[in-house]
Amino acid sequence: MSFDMKKLTSDQPALPVVIVGNGPSAICLSYFLTGHRPYIKNGAVHPNPILQKKLQQIGDCSLLDQDLEYLAEGVEGRSQNPMAVLFDSLVRPDRDFGGTADSVLTWKEDHKDHIQHLVLGKGPPGGSWHSFDGSMTTLSLGEWMELPGLNFRDWIRRKGRNLRNDRATTKDVAQYYQHYVKVMGLKKYFASGTLVTSIKPVDLSSLQTTSLSLHSTEDLSKKLYEIKGVCLSKEAPETPFCVYAENVVLATGTYDSPAHLGVDGEDFPFVYHKISDLESAVEEQRLGPNSDPILVIGAGLTAADAVLLAHHRNVPVLHTFRRGLNDLGLIFNQLPQMMYPEYHKVHQMMREKCCLPCKCYTGYRSLPLHHVKSFSSDKTCVLESTKEGKKVFRISMAFVLIGSNPNLSFLANSGKHLTVDQEHEVNCKRNPIDTHPFTYESLQEPGLYALGPLAGDSFVRFLQGGALAVTASLIQKRKVQSVR
Ligand SMILES: Cc1cc2nc3c(=O)[nH]c(=O)nc-3n(C[C@H](O)[C@H](O)[C@H](O)COP(=O)(O)OP(=O)(O)OC[C@H]3O[C@@H](n4cnc5c(N)ncnc54)[C@H](O)[C@@H]3O)c2cc1C
Ligand SMILES: *[C@@H]1O[C@H](CO)[C@@H](O)[C@H](O)[C@H]1NC(C)=O
Repeated sequence: MSFDMKKLTSDQPALPVVIVGNGPSAICLSYFLTGHRPYIKNGAVHPNPILQKKLQQIGDCSLLDQDLEYLAEGVEGRSQNPMAVLFDSLVRPDRDFGGTADSVLTWKEDHKDHIQHLVLGKGPPGGSWHSFDGSMTTLSLGEWMELPGLNFRDWIRRKGRNLRNDRATTKDVAQYYQHYVKVMGLKKYFASGTLVTSIKPVDLSSLQTTSLSLHSTEDLSKKLYEIKGVCLSKEAPETPFCVYAENVVLATGTYDSPAHLGVDGEDFPFVYHKISDLESAVEEQRLGPNSDPILVIGAGLTAADAVLLAHHRNVPVLHTFRRGLNDLGLIFNQLPQMMYPEYHKVHQMMREKCCLPCKCYTGYRSLPLHHVKSFSSDKTCVLESTKEGKKVFRISMAFVLIGSNPNLSFLANSGKHLTVDQEHEVNCKRNPIDTHPFTYESLQEPGLYALGPLAGDSFVRFLQGGALAVTASLIQKRKVQSVR
C-alpha cells in the first residue's frame, strides 16, 4: 500500500511528526517510529568491557528505555556525535579498530509504540542515492550502507550480485533503500514526489478560523508547524499541499545546491555543476574523443568520478584544482590505496607531469594549484596559478564539482538562525544545525529536529544513532503529554 495523496490537506488533524527528505535518515527514523525497538541479543558480548557491563544490566528491556547518555559515555569512534558512535559501536563493534564482532542488537516490533508520521521527499525513497552516478562504487564498505533489520550482504546476494572490493554500486544502494521501505511496511508513510517549499511555526489562536481540525481543545496549548509544498507530477500540473505537525524532522541531506565558484561567466550554458550532466552528455554523444577537452574543476571524489567517466569514454580532460598534490587535505592522501584502486588511479593521473609523452595518460592533463578566473562565451576559460600566471584554454564543457550545500530555502532565513555559527550559512562540515547531542532537537527551535549530514553525521552508518535519539525524544514527549 502506498501513500494516499488525498491525505495532504490542511483539514486533516495535525500529525505528531513530519519528516522532510526521504533518504536513509528519514527511512531509518520511519522504521523506528513504526515501533521497531532495539534489544540486546541473547548472549551477545561486546568487546568493550565497560560497555559490555552496562549492556548486561539492561536485560530484556528495550535500549530506548535506557539512559542513552550513560550508555554512550566513554565509547569512542570516528564521529563527533556520541549517539552516532554509540549506535555504530553496538552494530559494528570496534570496526574502525579491526574488530569483526557481530552486532549486539536485535530488533522487535511493538505496534503500541507506533508514532504516526509522514515522510515528504522530492524523489523516490532513498534520497540522494538516486541522483548519484549509478555505476560508481561506494566509498564505504557496502555493508556500512545497511539499515537496521535487513542484512545488506544477503540482499545483494539474493539479487545475484556481488560486492566489488566489498563495496556496492550506488545504484545497488539506492535499490536497497527502496526495497527496505517496501518490505518493512513503511510505504504508507512515504509521500514521494513532494517538494516542501515552506515550514513555519503557527500561532494557534489565528488558526481557529481555518479548517484545521485539532484532536481536542487541549491541543491548543501546543505549538504547531505549518508545512506547505507541491506534489510534483509528470502528468498533472503541480498541486499545492499543506499539512500541520507538532514536530518536524529535517532530513534533507546536503546535495541539493551544488557549490559555485562565483566567477564571471559561470552561468554560460556550457558550464555545469552536476556530474549527471556529464553522464548525459556522454550518453547522448555530445562529447567524444574528438571534442575539445572538458574542464573538470575540483579535487574531491565527485570530480575524480567525472575524470574517470570521461577518461573511460576517451573524452579529453583538463583537470584543475586549487590544492597541491601533496596537500594532506586532499582526500586521495587519506584513502587507503588497496581499497580504492580507481581513486588511486586518478591520484596517479593527477600527479603525472606529462613530460614523457609515452608515459602519459593520453587525453588527460592535470593542473594543480590553479584556480578559475573566468569563462567566456566563446567557450574559453582563464586559469591562473601563482607560479605560472594566467593561461587560456579552449574547452567544450566545464564541470564545477567542488561540493554542495544544503538547501533550506523553505525555512525563514534559510535556517541560518538554527546553525552553530549563525553568522554563516548552514554547511554540513563547517556549520551544521545546532542540535542537542542526545535528542537531535534544535537548541534554537524546540519541535524542530535535524538528522544526517545536516546535524554533522555525514555517513550512513553514523546517521542511524541520530534517528534513534529523535525516536527516544518523541517517545519522551508523548509520555509527558499523556501525564498532563
Ligand atoms: C558522491 C557521494 C558519495 C557518497 N558515498 C558515501 C559512502 O560511500 N558511504 C556513506 O556512508 N555515505 C556516502 N555519502 C554520503 C551519503 O550520501 C549521506 O550520508 C546520506 O545519503 C545522507 O542521508 P540523508 O537521508 O540525511 O540525506 P539524503 O540522502 O541527501 O536525502 C535527502 C533527500 O531529501 C530531498 N529533499 C531535499 N530538500 C527537500 C525538500 N524541500 N522537499 C522534499 N525533499 C527534499 C533531497 O532531494 C534528497 O533526495 C556519499 C555522498 C556523495 C555525494
Ligand atoms: C532551493 O530550492 C528551491 C525550491 O526547490 C529552489 O527554487 C531554489 O532554486 C534552490 N536554491 C538553490 C541555491 O539551489
